[in-house]
Amino acid sequence: ITRAIRGNFFDFSQIVGVPSELESQARYIEDGMMFLNSGKIVWLGSREEGERRLAQNLSAVPLDDYRDKLIIPGFVDTHIHYPQTEMIGAYGEQLLEWLSNYTFPTEAQYHDIDYARRMSAFFIEQLLNNGTTTALVFGTVHPQSVDALFTAAAALNMRLIAGKVMMDKNAPESVLETPAQSERDTRTLIERWHNHKRLSYALTPRFVPTSSPQLLEKVRAIKADYPDIYLQTHLSENADEISWVKSLYPEHQRYLDVYHHYNLTGSRCIFAHCLHLHEEEWDCLSDTDSSIAFCPTSNLFLGSGLFNLQTSWQKRVRLGIGTDVGAGTTFNMLQTLSEAYKVGQLQKYRLSAFEAFYHATLGGARALHLDDKIGNFDVGKEADMVVLDPSATALQQLRSGNSKTLAERLFVLMTLGDDRNIYRTLVDGKVVYQRAK
Ligand code: GUN
Ligand code: FE
Repeated sequence: ITRAIRGNFFDFSQIVGVPSELESQARYIEDGMMFLNSGKIVWLGSREEGERRLAQNLSAVPLDDYRDKLIIPGFVDTHIHYPQTEMIGAYGEQLLEWLSNYTFPTEAQYHDIDYARRMSAFFIEQLLNNGTTTALVFGTVHPQSVDALFTAAAALNMRLIAGKVMMDKNAPESVLETPAQSERDTRTLIERWHNHKRLSYALTPRFVPTSSPQLLEKVRAIKADYPDIYLQTHLSENADEISWVKSLYPEHQRYLDVYHHYNLTGSRCIFAHCLHLHEEEWDCLSDTDSSIAFCPTSNLFLGSGLFNLQTSWQKRVRLGIGTDVGAGTTFNMLQTLSEAYKVGQLQKYRLSAFEAFYHATLGGARALHLDDKIGNFDVGKEADMVVLDPSATALQQLRSGNSKTLAERLFVLMTLGDDRNIYRTLVDGKVVYQRAK
């Protein structure tokens, strides 16, 4: 044992198939203790039993005491753009205008490796300050953007998945490439980074409107060469985007048919948004074991639409939560879950706190096929966690005093919560963020 942690632990013991199973899989250990051996969880139980075991241990083990805090698995952000950090909260547009007016000019700056390094450091710090320990991340078209990000993540031994954007049309020259160049650069990055430490590579065709058939053909070819590679892209976010896809690829019936035609569906393929899917697209996602990233703050900010959580359960599609910064308006998962709840409310869907925290931890891990490594506190899992302070403000303190159940306390935490509630973040068993005071 290299470290002992005392506190109140909350996680989910198993993957669930329907929301009604969430409550029985929720695991709460009040006044518990956890043992780590470097970056792994080796034991979790009651404080009494933990203290007995510690007493038998001959070598002194450092003990972190978080007795009034709530310790949960690190948040999993299944969709985020690191080169949009500096343009978060850009005013007044919906998706396509937002991309041309703000996004592409911002991303063009990442040809400069020094700039990319500075922004990578800032971005990773933002994730950790918000309790997010794993993310699936878009870079820019420039391979150096991804080199910079992976280098920063590797230094902390973070579990991170990322890829360089692939795009060859319908954007300014400064963020475009040819299909051949895209394939070369992508293959080089895969050889350098995929399965290096805790890093994985994700093929990242931006979305259909910026992809020629030749480019999608290249993506298909690379994917075929790496059976455990990820793929991330956008799907069915905005009404104008969907019509544009239809006009660009008239031979395909639906948006998802384009990706599916090029074999870009399946396990480890993660589609952001999925707001306006037809029944056969839902079935295709389900039948191919693809995953969805639900990005509530982005969907509301760009006025894109309301994600249907009910259908995602019915169709049994793997689902995680994404912040989608910079269309999303926060790095913070508590705030993101609070917006997810409101998206549910507008459709008469009641998102419980248990469901919300499940999607943000074990569910997100499952969406990324990482639930054998992260997402809960099972023995053998990697020691990525967040120590939450549920009463970080006077209002939260007052409100917590009126909460009767764990479910209610968690719900208020997500409704009122933000980065002030993040007390410590641990990655690979080490404290990588601590709140001042
Ligand atoms: N669709 C294509 N590119 C993007 C992007 O950068 N953000 C969002 N939200 N949607 C997209
Ligand atoms: Fe996005």
